[in-house]
Amino acid sequence: MSRIKIGLLVLSVIIIAIQFVQPARNQNRQVLDADITRLYMVPENVEAVLKTSCYDCHSNNTNYPWYVNVQPGGWWLASHIKKGKAELNFDEFGNYSKRRRQSKLKSIASSIEDGTMPLPSYTLIHKNAKLSKEDKTLLLNWVKKTRDSLLLKN
Ligand code: HEC
Repeated sequence: MSRIKIGLLVLSVIIIAIQFVQPARNQNRQVLDADITRLYMVPENVEAVLKTSCYDCHSNNTNYPWYVNVQPGGWWLASHIKKGKAELNFDEFGNYSKRRRQSKLKSIASSIEDGTMPLPSYTLIHKNAKLSKEDKTLLLNWVKKTRDSLLLKN
């Protein structure tokens, strides 16, 4: 066998072998008391946009796409979920201190304004998660309202 053939063979074995390493799924259907919708007014249309565009990485429930079964696609997503949830989890928002909630809401607004969220590498594949101009305005207005109400409560 030529070197190229051996190389290809080894590569195929590796590609097949990694298919067996599946990260644990992020799916936990129960609604926790700390869920953001239990704390603040989250209108249905706002929740719908958050669910489509943010919840895959910032909640306890990921809506898994087909490529999760094709490694390293699943690993790629799992790593985003892990990092994303560590920074911000809408299902556990109520466990944050008031100060942290304020600062998270502030960074939500700036991430939307700057277009850093949802991650561009993600919207490349998940076209429906891309925020339209209207979605952005909707979310930004909601963040502002929620932040103002938090300030009053303090
Ligand atoms: C594909 C996964 C993914 C999606 C979808 C996603 N994020 Fe993120 N988000 C991340 C990751 C990963 C981080 C951690 C920082 C980084 O790597 O950029 C993060 C960080 C953040 C942070 C920073 C938190 C902080 O305190 O600095 C905010 C805010 C945020 N995301 C908001 C959003 C919002 C709002 C949406 C939806 C409009 C969204 N994200 C969609 C993966 C995602």
